Amino acid sequence: MSLITLGIESSCDETGIALYQLGRGLLSHALHTQIEMHSEYGGVVPELASRDHIRRVVPLVRKVMREANITLAQVDAIAFTQGPGLGGALLVGASAANALAYALDIPVIGIHHLEGHLLSPLLADPAPEFPFVALLVSGGHTQLMRVDGVGLYTLLGETLDDAAGEAFDKSAKLLGLGYPGGPALAKLAMTGQPGKFKLPRPMLHSNDLNFSFSGLKTAVLTLVKQNDCDIQTRADIACATQEAIIEVLALKALSALTHTGLTRLVVAGGVGANRHLRCRLNLDIGKRGGTVFYPDLEFCTDNGAMIAFAGALRLAQQQGHKDYRFNIKPRWNLQEVINLKHP
Ligand code: KG4
Ligand code: ZN
Repeated sequence: MSLITLGIESSCDETGIALYQLGRGLLSHALHTQIEMHSEYGGVVPELASRDHIRRVVPLVRKVMREANITLAQVDAIAFTQGPGLGGALLVGASAANALAYALDIPVIGIHHLEGHLLSPLLADPAPEFPFVALLVSGGHTQLMRVDGVGLYTLLGETLDDAAGEAFDKSAKLLGLGYPGGPALAKLAMTGQPGKFKLPRPMLHSNDLNFSFSGLKTAVLTLVKQNDCDIQTRADIACATQEAIIEVLALKALSALTHTGLTRLVVAGGVGANRHLRCRLNLDIGKRGGTVFYPDLEFCTDNGAMIAFAGALRLAQQQGHKDYRFNIKPRWNLQEVINLKHP
């Protein structure tokens, strides 16, 4: 009988709780998003985020237990997002996880949020086999990694400044769109005329696998200022912005496959929900004989399932402990959870 892991995600503006059992899969999961609460401020207000996590975490734990028909006594271990993220928000998940694990006398394990994203496509069917290249595109990170197994990650390239998600969010703000900007910009871009505006493709020919997106928002700002921004023009700019971000991501992902000689690409993180990005990658990588894997749409953005899953895999490597000091790591670097480096 394999272990049942309870996962708790609270690093930003989503409280995600899930139960995962190795060998059986995801038993249940629940999510509360704070998008509506933060939207009137145009972005995440950390203090409000923490307070809301406090309100949500226990009812959501009860909900997943009920849905999976599991009692707390049947839970074998608890995984929580230890970082990176907002300090106060992380503390809520960490304290809930440690208090519960202490009370139940079961192991606890802190999970790196990006490792959760990185492994989330393995929850999908079909799941990719190792090794693969991962394109990690969340709100705060844009990285290309070679993944040889759980904990076997090699950084191939990353953004030198803004993340792709940030480029979406900041450009959306300049276009007067709400938070979160990515989905709003993608929606507006649907009515835009492709090719009406051309934005720069930063670092496309840099001969490495790094990215830079900070110049893009300046270029968007210039377009916004230069043009009479009626709804159609804003849609045209949104379209150009999306095109620019996607082209860079797709071509760098292709280069990463060429560089590593691998054929499987896995896309993880919130921007991975973007339909245009998916179409472009499927086309480009399919042409080259490769395959692209994505998490289910609901597991692209933050969720508890990826934390329960990553926790279960780490626990299988005997990495759980009963040291209930909940030291969170708001600025944790993914490099620190790497077990093996490739040349
Ligand atoms: O992975 P995630 O939920 O949170 C972080 O860990 O950061 O990613 C959130 C990011 C935000 O920047 C959001 O605007 C972006 O993912 N995003 C999208 C889409 N859905 C979410 N960007 C483009 N198109 C989308 N459909
Ligand atoms: Zn995330």
